[in-house]
Amino acid sequence: MFYCPTRIIFARNAVQKAKDHITSLGKRALIVTGKNSAEQSGALADVISVLTESGISYVLFDSITENPSLDIVMEGKSVFLQNECDFVIGIGGGSPIDSAKAISLASANSLGRDELYNTSAFKKAYPVLAIPLTAGTGTEVTQYSVLSDPLTKKKAGFGSDLAFPVLAVLNPKYTLTLPPKVTLHTALDALSHLLEGLYSNQRSPVVYPFIYKGIASIMKFLPLVLSQRENYLAREELMRDALYGGMVIAQGSTTLQHSIGYPLTSFYNIPHGLANAMVMEDIMELYYPAVHQELDDLFSYLQISKDDFYAWLHSLPFERKIEFSNDFIDKAIPQIMSSRNMALNPLLVSEQQVRNLLENLRKVDVPVN
Ligand SMILES: [Fe+2]
Repeated sequence: MFYCPTRIIFARNAVQKAKDHITSLGKRALIVTGKNSAEQSGALADVISVLTESGISYVLFDSITENPSLDIVMEGKSVFLQNECDFVIGIGGGSPIDSAKAISLASANSLGRDELYNTSAFKKAYPVLAIPLTAGTGTEVTQYSVLSDPLTKKKAGFGSDLAFPVLAVLNPKYTLTLPPKVTLHTALDALSHLLEGLYSNQRSPVVYPFIYKGIASIMKFLPLVLSQRENYLAREELMRDALYGGMVIAQGSTTLQHSIGYPLTSFYNIPHGLANAMVMEDIMELYYPAVHQELDDLFSYLQISKDDFYAWLHSLPFERKIEFSNDFIDKAIPQIMSSRNMALNPLLVSEQQVRNLLENLRKVDVPVN
């Protein structure tokens, strides 16, 4: 199975190249973005220039922060409807693009705050143009939107074919100035997506070439870009790998590797990609009996062993352990066990196994003899 209804334009001058497609989307755009990155990367100026040249008006909604809430989506819906917009442009990392998708659906279907996960209420959508400014989430080519509820401290996603952006415009130039930490964490998110394409019980061999090529490229170019921030060719590779990751999870979704990270993000603000990476080795060990053939084939393509992969992962500069309370474990486990990704694991995962995975992340003081 393979389904990707998004037109993808990937080029150095992508927004200008996409002009005809952008102008076909509507007459009045709601631009959904955060406070800084769209401006700093030059993407906002590129978009405004194309809209102005084409006589398309726009309203700027730049209130999106990390881990967008249901409330911000409701606010965006009001701005969209009050200004009689007819399409949405999401510019940013995952947060603005996921918000743009949710604002489109909330506006088109008159959804209230409590209906944003209720995909059966989604009947139509306004067109969404996605312009990623990081190389990680792949959300520009997926049907998913991940939102947070500050009242319950729950972070969860929904998936609907109506949420696919109709157009994704990617220009690696926008990622050239990303700080090393953001570069690392977002690339680790892309790596998680690619691996989960092999793990998911809905896995589709049609996308294995994307998975193989994407993982090989991240292993080669991520360390390079961490020392050469403005290496365009490496940035281009990582942006394409993230795109592959999005196309991969659009087919088979994500698994426990993602759902275990959501509470780490909502309770302790651990960046999404880092949270995935912290459990990556343990998840691979847990799943290995069920997907050893898929992983062995991958490692044979990469001409490395599983241990070589772990050694590479350990060479990356990120913290594997955090301090947390027992109270956190008690709150996180029900959220993880009830998440929709749990149904996609390649084997049955017990509550005790999830508890063990979390305990392995806990930073413990080693007593001195
Ligand atoms: Fe992700």
